[in-house]
Amino acid sequence: MREILVTSALPYANGDIHLGHLVEYIQTDIWVRAMKAQGHQVTYVCADDAHGTAIMLKAEDNGVTPEAQIANVKAAHEADFAKFLIDFDNYHSTHSEENKHFSELIYRRLNSAGHISTKDVEQLFDPEKKLFLADRFVKGTCPECGAEDQYGDNCEVCGTTYNATELKDPRSTLSGATPVLKTSKHYFFDLPEFEQFLQDWTRSTDRLQPSIANKLQEWFDSGLASWDISRDAPYFGFQIPDTPSDEPDKYFYVWLDAPVGYMASFKNLCDKRAGTDKALDFDRYWAQENENKTEVYHFIGKDIVYFHALFWPAMLAGSELRTPTGVFAHGFLMVNGEKMSKSRGTFIKADTYAQHLQPEYLRYYFASKLSDKVEDINLDLEDFMQKVNSDLVGKVVNIASRSAGFLVKKYDGKLSETCAEPALLEDITKTGDDIAAAYENREFSRAMRLIMQCADKANEYIDTKKPWSLAKEEGTEQEVQDVCSVAINIFRQLMVYLAPVLPELTENSKGFLNLDDLSFASRSEWLLGHQINKFKPLMQRIEKTSIDAMVDDSKASLAAAETTKDDSKKGDDKAKDKKADAKSADNADAGDYIGIEDFAKVEMKVAKVLACNHVEGADKLLQFTLDVGEDKTRNVFSGIRKFYEPEQLQGKKVICVTNLAPRKMKFGISEGMILSSGDPKTGLTVITLPDAAAVGDTLA
Ligand code: MSP
Ligand code: ZN
Repeated sequence: MREILVTSALPYANGDIHLGHLVEYIQTDIWVRAMKAQGHQVTYVCADDAHGTAIMLKAEDNGVTPEAQIANVKAAHEADFAKFLIDFDNYHSTHSEENKHFSELIYRRLNSAGHISTKDVEQLFDPEKKLFLADRFVKGTCPECGAEDQYGDNCEVCGTTYNATELKDPRSTLSGATPVLKTSKHYFFDLPEFEQFLQDWTRSTDRLQPSIANKLQEWFDSGLASWDISRDAPYFGFQIPDTPSDEPDKYFYVWLDAPVGYMASFKNLCDKRAGTDKALDFDRYWAQENENKTEVYHFIGKDIVYFHALFWPAMLAGSELRTPTGVFAHGFLMVNGEKMSKSRGTFIKADTYAQHLQPEYLRYYFASKLSDKVEDINLDLEDFMQKVNSDLVGKVVNIASRSAGFLVKKYDGKLSETCAEPALLEDITKTGDDIAAAYENREFSRAMRLIMQCADKANEYIDTKKPWSLAKEEGTEQEVQDVCSVAINIFRQLMVYLAPVLPELTENSKGFLNLDDLSFASRSEWLLGHQINKFKPLMQRIEKTSIDAMVDDSKASLAAAETTKDDSKKGDDKAKDKKADAKSADNADAGDYIGIEDFAKVEMKVAKVLACNHVEGADKLLQFTLDVGEDKTRNVFSGIRKFYEPEQLQGKKVICVTNLAPRKMKFGISEGMILSSGDPKTGLTVITLPDAAAVGDTLA
């Protein structure tokens, strides 16, 4: 049994959790659950990152004390995480006694080892607000291209990076006042002294992903600099201890005490559990001499690698504490192929999502996209709906729903006494080893693919055996029971495999399976002669209307809200670099295949165009009256007006998708879709069929 401590980055206490954050917390939670399922002792801690100017100003805006502000946000964050089934062992705050203790301890150790120095720094100061201005609180004219209204660190128009002091006509975004230059003494952590240590640390096996190790090499090549770890009052944070009494208050920069928050949250948990049978020993995880006994992993976004792979290990090594075993970075979330956007309604808060859709849908979708790479992941809302509906509802839950009915109705819920397909079940048991390995290696998309392959095998088996036809024949009772029993056994195995991703579904399936144990170890135990309960629907399909409503709500709620810091903005440039990679990875994803049963869901029929007309007021549409071999004709709108005159299509035989939900349009209801090839921007060709094709025939 391995002893493992896992963390996710600590979210800032000045805003709500959104779907971008959830990529990280869901990824970590799945990993933790999967490792626990393998019998390891895993502890998962997190906390709110409560310090810094942004939070101080946010509290001021809201007319509350910073303490009240962070307490409110913490409650909201915890509620959101609970909705998404993120199962922290502890959720704490960096504004805590434990964190103060360890931040001071680390600082004092670094200081006495000679790793701290001071230097005068000249910085822009807001004379009205009476505070030093971080780059993002200064705007002005770009010194390079003259673009107005640019932030203090880089120009969004020409891309030049500069110091805030170089901006022309600078002004404080807090008060509008013209900032003045002011000098003050700052404390620095001597990072360059740790270069050799960091080079070795970075390169040791499996500590970092290869692309991150390469990035670090670039940083080493361009030279490390001392790190400014102090901020002047007013600041919301911890005062730096042992400073001369004649100096104005100096505070730790928020990023100094933020990662220490991992330790603080863990210590808080150790204290809570002291004396219980789940007691944890703090030193076993953090003392240098125990480094090989336990493992510590940090899951983070790619925007905060510098802090976790350079500053943090250097701080720990410099104060004689253990360093992390691994740091795992993930990419950023895109929605519909683009950066999350408030105006498009794709900047979606966790809470808004949860009001419209089940959190497990998102857990599954993220799992199906996540790998061990640092690539951005794309939440395509259409694909999200299709994937969840086809994989979870159409494949997995379907196995249970199509076989449980027979068993309950005809066999009083009893499964067969013997297993009719041991080879199939063995095969799926064996796949479990690959699935477990994929989880451990953070190749969740691979794990999901393997699981869906198992589900396909089950469905193919049922399709071949056709219990619904068998049941109508004489003397087939045993066979029908056997087939359905095999299906239920496979379903049970799938629940075991999906448990890290879909803990609620797995839990709910216990009721109908009439089982308590769905542990990983139990996957090879067949249910023979076991009695199941009546099947209740375990998961509903996603309706397009829910997604639309969520997007509309996001537009509405975020148009009103003013946030101090837009998280989606942070790391944007890096996000852009990665976009192309993420795209090619998507294409290579074999998980994007559909099964034949998915294809079979689309009903396409030969249709004859009885009438084709222009639509008043619609410059893209033509209106069709189609004969598809039914009692009534169908009315269909098609966006091909730019490429056809109505008379060209009159009397032609075309392909109509006939089982699409009718769509209400401004000009009437469209009752199907006519297939064309090409691109709606550059040209579409309506697919026409030879005369021999009979109206109403199905295409397959
Ligand atoms: N407070 C710091 C972390 C301190 S850790 C000692 C911070 N907070 S954050 O709220 O901005 O982000 C928390 C985590 O969520 C980070 O790992 C960040 O990368 C991740 N994400 C925030 N927005 C994200 C996306 N849009 N997409 C994916 N992950 C994102 O950084
Ligand atoms: Zn510029």
